[in-house]
Amino acid sequence: MSDDSYVLEARNVSKHFTVRGAAGRARVVRAVEDASVALRPGGVLALVGESGSGKTTLARLLARFHPPTEGEILLRGEPLRRGRRAARAYHAEVQLIFQDPFGSLNPLHRVRYTLDRTLRLHEPGLDRAGRRRRVVELLERVSLSPAAEVAEKFPHELSGGQRQRVVIARALAVRPKVLLGDEPISMLDVSIRLDMLNLLHRLRADEGLALLYITHDIASARYLCDDIAVMYAGRMVESGPRERLIGAPQHPYTKLLVESSPDPERGAAGRDELFGDADQLGEPPSLIDPPDGCRFHPRCPFAMAECRTQSPPRTELGDGHWTHCWLHQKGRAGELAGTTFASAVAATRGADGVARQESAR
Ligand SMILES: Nc1ncnc2c1ncn2[C@@H]1O[C@H](COP(=O)(O)OP(=O)(O)OP(=O)(O)O)[C@@H](O)[C@H]1O
Ligand code: SF4
Ligand SMILES: [Mg+2]
Repeated sequence: MSDDSYVLEARNVSKHFTVRGAAGRARVVRAVEDASVALRPGGVLALVGESGSGKTTLARLLARFHPPTEGEILLRGEPLRRGRRAARAYHAEVQLIFQDPFGSLNPLHRVRYTLDRTLRLHEPGLDRAGRRRRVVELLERVSLSPAAEVAEKFPHELSGGQRQRVVIARALAVRPKVLLGDEPISMLDVSIRLDMLNLLHRLRADEGLALLYITHDIASARYLCDDIAVMYAGRMVESGPRERLIGAPQHPYTKLLVESSPDPERGAAGRDELFGDADQLGEPPSLIDPPDGCRFHPRCPFAMAECRTQSPPRTELGDGHWTHCWLHQKGRAGELAGTTFASAVAATRGADGVARQESAR
């Protein structure tokens, strides 16, 4: 998927962590497996998936906080160079914003100090007066006013939303080309989330920033993003233009996410309605010992024999839309449009309500 217009790409990256299990035995967590994403200047890609699916790990790979176990990260088509100078140059272009704005700011320092320190590191040519001007300008860019007053505050004197704006201002201080937002609004009060999304939208539109927006929430992804990529248990399962992916999901897991997200026009089925008794359909798999074949197969009402043994290949669906699902290889993709996830689950159950997906096909 090489393309000169991408500013940042992860190509077929995997990340395995070694952890100590019971009795000190080393176990491998397959947190991300063969994942690919690509970001364009001025484009917003949402990365969605439930807890533990590997979203943060992928963002940390893109931010070069971890080296990938396999695969490569490319900045403007160039593989990453080693060394501290190269890392600093990289971080001047690619900035990661975390979920918790309080944890990201040193409580002992005023906003001015936090921003000034970043400016001193990344713009050593700027004198004191120049840095003061830049601090005000940065705070104004993230709509914190009066900027001169906000600059003198400590983090605890700011609201959660104001703190996250300071975190974004600090990220912008290095004049990045890419922002990686790891659930940047999820810890904020519901009433200010829309303002934050609008700020992110403005930054990408006015400044051509490429944005990776990580979220559990497909509704906010729909609001902000051009494209959506869906992860399940460490693997990418589907990616494509927002309206196509939400309007006609081509992977059963995406279908489940879309159908369970609040949509005033459609009304949402609750998780219970979709999954029934979680014991019967199962929880997300362990990444230490993931299921063979498609990792979604223990929960998938469309599963067939191949799904249990072979990882589904990627099917290209046009316009940058692709998925990994055997339904497309077996000429059965039409089944997705003809039912809801809940109905498909119900069809795999017997009168006693016990899941029968193993024997149903
Ligand atoms: N440093 C690490 N060492 C060992 N395991 C890790 C490490 N970082 C992440 N993991 C594991 O990798 C898997 C993916 O975690 P990750 O944090 O990337 O998921 P996530 O999609 O961001 O989840 P959430 O939505 O809860 O933030 C999890 O099983 C997690 O426990
Ligand atoms: S590959 Fe099989 S188990 Fe996986 S989502 Fe598609 S139909 Fe379901
Ligand atoms: Mg995470």
